Amino acid sequence: MKGILLAGGAGSRLYPITKLYSKQLTIIYDKPLIYYPLSVLMLSGINEILIISNEETIPLYKKLFGDGAHLGLKISYVLQPAPNGIAQSFILGEEFINNDPVTLLLGDNIFYGHLDFLYEAVDTLTTGATIFGYRVTDPERYGIVEFNKSGQVLSIEEKPAKPKSDFAVPGVYVYDNQVVEIAKNLKPSKRGELEITDVNIEYLKKGQLSVKKIGRGVAWLDTGTPEALLQASNFFGVIEERQGMKIACIEEIAFNKGFINKEQFKDLINSIPQSTYRAYLERALLEDSEN
Ligand code: G1P
Repeated sequence: MKGILLAGGAGSRLYPITKLYSKQLTIIYDKPLIYYPLSVLMLSGINEILIISNEETIPLYKKLFGDGAHLGLKISYVLQPAPNGIAQSFILGEEFINNDPVTLLLGDNIFYGHLDFLYEAVDTLTTGATIFGYRVTDPERYGIVEFNKSGQVLSIEEKPAKPKSDFAVPGVYVYDNQVVEIAKNLKPSKRGELEITDVNIEYLKKGQLSVKKIGRGVAWLDTGTPEALLQASNFFGVIEERQGMKIACIEEIAFNKGFINKEQFKDLINSIPQSTYRAYLERALLEDSEN
């Protein structure tokens, strides 16, 4: 399974923060936003990752992650010249995807909690697509799934004025390799974008779309506005401080997932300047040695 992080976009609602770079580099509590979705891909066991972004921001991601080798990852980058829609990821990423299935994660979507729903989808997908439904109070802002009484999917609509349900489709999608051809055959929507919802509708028409409802115990946080950024920072700040454990700490995850061994983890820690972040990783290493 390959992974794509789409991390460009205009981010106009966050101006002037986004005057310098894309919003996925804004800070959520103690680390850049993109660490959160990147960590979700890593926790799903995905280690070949393509980051798609704009011209200004790609050099900054390269500065952050390089080729990913220090994290046991293979990270590559592709330019999205203009924000022409989420589904364009599969066209821009065709060479990277090659003949494999692919999980797309939107770089501004944060998931926290029991993510087994995703790990299972990534592990078990054979044919078709698996996407998710998450209950929200503002359904007109999202792709919306309509279910019948027995839980079958009836329709999916992008930002409907009159939503047929409260189940939004969050920005994480697990696709088989057909997604590349499907994306290539899409027509731009009224807002001029290749819509991810249209990709999902194609799978629905083929009878190959599975929509799994995400229940309680999973936080899907928004980062589209300054208020939402502040809420997300507070949310993670509270949990990290209470537990003394870091969330989306990619170095720790790389070690725990076995992407890097202990020697590599030590080298990685030594490359980090003295900071509470480094001290945290040193403690993680020590605790591992004691166990
Ligand atoms: C996009 C998708 C939408 C999905 C949402 C999740 O919306 O088009 O279907 O529910 O991401 O974050 P956009 O980012 O264009 O508002």
